[in-house]
Amino acid sequence: MTAFDPKEIRKAFGRFMTGVTVVTTRANDGTPVGFTANSFTSVSLDPPLLLVCPGKFLSSFDAFENATHFAVSVLAEGQEEVSNTFAGFKGDRFARIPHEQDLNGVPVINGAVAWFSCQTHRVMPAGDHTVLVGQVTGFDHHSGGGLGYADGRYFSLGLERAAGESPPSGAVVGAIVETPAGVLLEETPHGLRPPQVMANSRTNQLESLSDGLAVRGMKVDLGRVYSAYDDRRLGTHHTYVLATAPVPTDMRGLRCVASDDLSRLGFATPAIATMMSRFATETRTRSFTLYLGDEDAGDTHKT
Ligand SMILES: Cc1cc2nc3c(=O)[nH]c(=O)nc-3n(C[C@H](O)[C@H](O)[C@H](O)COP(=O)(O)O)c2cc1C
Repeated sequence: MTAFDPKEIRKAFGRFMTGVTVVTTRANDGTPVGFTANSFTSVSLDPPLLLVCPGKFLSSFDAFENATHFAVSVLAEGQEEVSNTFAGFKGDRFARIPHEQDLNGVPVINGAVAWFSCQTHRVMPAGDHTVLVGQVTGFDHHSGGGLGYADGRYFSLGLERAAGESPPSGAVVGAIVETPAGVLLEETPHGLRPPQVMANSRTNQLESLSDGLAVRGMKVDLGRVYSAYDDRRLGTHHTYVLATAPVPTDMRGLRCVASDDLSRLGFATPAIATMMSRFATETRTRSFTLYLGDEDAGDTHKT
């Protein structure tokens, strides 16, 4: 057998653009389990079949291999947090993410653009994964764009289109949160970033932010705006505010970093890296400026 460089073949597979799904079932003892999957494929209309490939490395692998029923929720644009939770969060994923139950008692994710309830049709071992084929016993779908994934990054057709036509329509609002133990950063598959949420509108952004962070166990006290910029590459508008908070009791998916170490870390986007390095410098004198611009250029204002 040819020995490929695993990193290279992973990259080559990653060139294939996909959507993102969350696959769910219940373990033998009734506990709901789920994982993020982009290996979803529709297979047949008559009978209606679909497939998804759970990896043997999943903590929930046994549950899927033995499941009589499972469900697939196709995530909508803006549901990156749902994807990240079901890809990386080690606690109770379902406590964080709003969901309902299908007729088989399997959780399906609220806000998904489509969901499918399945009866297991076939389970085929395939290398380090298993091909799980389901017969669709129920489904629903809604209008709106799905969340995209390519080259290890999310994209959203709605937002990409908007970026080409008009001002960005996706509003990201986040906080640079200082705790007694350092600055809180969120771990994502693309690198670190300040904790953030996708705001549905330009109004009530601060409320969306403090609610979103509270759900994740961060009781923040929000301060002044630190940076507001358009990321034309992502088609999103970003606003970050300064904030303080006690160290969360549940640090899963989060890191606390001393401000001196900020410039050495891998951040999710170049714009966030630039902002965090400015914060690292300015925090030494506690004289913070306000940045207004885009991901490449802008002005800093003394506040
Ligand atoms: C966009 C994306 C797609 C993924 N697709 C799959 C997949 O198709 N099959 C799989 O086994 N893992 C996939 N993963 C990884 C799993 O979601 C991740 O390993 C899993 O949630 C870990 O769960 P555990 O902590 O319960 O083991 C994907 C992750 C991401 C971010």
